[in-house]
Amino acid sequence: MKIGVVKEIKADEYRVALTPAGARELVQRGHEVLVETGAGQGSAFADAQYAAVGAKLHGVEDVWAAAEMVLKVKEPLPEEYLRLRSGQILFTYLHLAASKELTLALVESGAACVAYETVETSSGALPLLAPMSEIAGRLAAQAGAYFLEKPQGGRGLLLGGVAGVAPGRVVVIGGGIVGYNAAVIAIGLGANVTILERSIDRMRYLDEILSGRVSLVMSSTLQIEESISEADVVIGAVLIPGAKAPKLITRPMLGEMKDGAVLCDVAIDQGGMAETSKPTTHTDPVYVVDGVTHYCVANMPGAVPVTSTKALTNATLPYVEAIAGKGLMEAVARDPGLAPGVNVLDGKITYEAVAEAHDLPYTPLYGVLA
Ligand SMILES: NC(=O)c1ccc[n+]([C@@H]2O[C@H](COP(=O)([O-])OP(=O)(O)OC[C@H]3O[C@@H](n4cnc5c(N)ncnc54)[C@H](O)[C@@H]3O)[C@@H](O)[C@H]2O)c1
Repeated sequence: MKIGVVKEIKADEYRVALTPAGARELVQRGHEVLVETGAGQGSAFADAQYAAVGAKLHGVEDVWAAAEMVLKVKEPLPEEYLRLRSGQILFTYLHLAASKELTLALVESGAACVAYETVETSSGALPLLAPMSEIAGRLAAQAGAYFLEKPQGGRGLLLGGVAGVAPGRVVVIGGGIVGYNAAVIAIGLGANVTILERSIDRMRYLDEILSGRVSLVMSSTLQIEESISEADVVIGAVLIPGAKAPKLITRPMLGEMKDGAVLCDVAIDQGGMAETSKPTTHTDPVYVVDGVTHYCVANMPGAVPVTSTKALTNATLPYVEAIAGKGLMEAVARDPGLAPGVNVLDGKITYEAVAEAHDLPYTPLYGVLA
């Protein structure tokens, strides 16, 4: 298969969808790998490293035109919509529930659009979201600590405290992968950490691995209201797969938070879990509403591309190999967990939560294939 890797054009996005090591695996399997010139630069991979493993370097137009499958990191932007064509496979993060415009553009393109974030394992876990969630969770705790500093507009509180001075309080809403990793770093910084979860099984697991180091509390509207009013840092880490994030923090609830507290809404890529959240970028990461600093960077792992490119491609490569080797339909037939990854196929929305989010028609994948 001809596999294209293009340079990311989203603001402050420095990751790339394939490392030279990954390119070498694909070339060795007989595939043709076309890499846009400079695509790996932001992640410290030079063009020469791709060329050395047998990949071919081209301009952006040529990569999109020749590739049967295009690998990306972030969703296509408007200038990329028209490059997609019928029959082409796009494999990238899409987060379609957050954008009707993008969903309609992909439907229009006729391409097969496979979203990293909805590919599943046999146990229902999300293997291509996990590495980025680990990184975003760890960064969220760091960002919380940083934006609590006075010169950054925060309360002027050292998250870990010192001997004789109490540490700050971190409330993590959603104890999944982001939430767990945020908690681990916040604990490491010395903060007082509470995780609000609504899955009992997940809480049992967190209790086992974090025993005694965090408070685990059942999530409810009342509990969220009470916890955030005492928090110095709130980390939004909920997920309802493929759907928009539930608005668990309303504007009136925000008014009860401390002045100079920080809200890191990691779930912003699914629309955000606070009514007041809107996406920001690494260039301009925060804004203030009702005295609360909002950190809502939609592509947090983009800040640490050397780490996140390697973590991402470790996870995606087996799927790229399967799709390139067998074709998308055969790969889906052999790995049922890849099926929910197919969000749009031949002009139809094949992922129910995306269709529901935009009130558009849903066609089950096997209905399109039949
Ligand atoms: N901004 C970024 O750069 C970035 C990067 C990675 C992930 N994310 C986002 O972070 C979010 C979390 O991802 P994840 O991988 O940790 O997901 P996950 O599925 O591992 O965890 C989500 C958790 O939220 C819990 N939950 C659902 N509803 C809840 C509620 N009402 N109250 C409390 N908990 C609730 C679930 O039980 C689950 O444990 C997602 O929206 C994901 O897209 C953002």
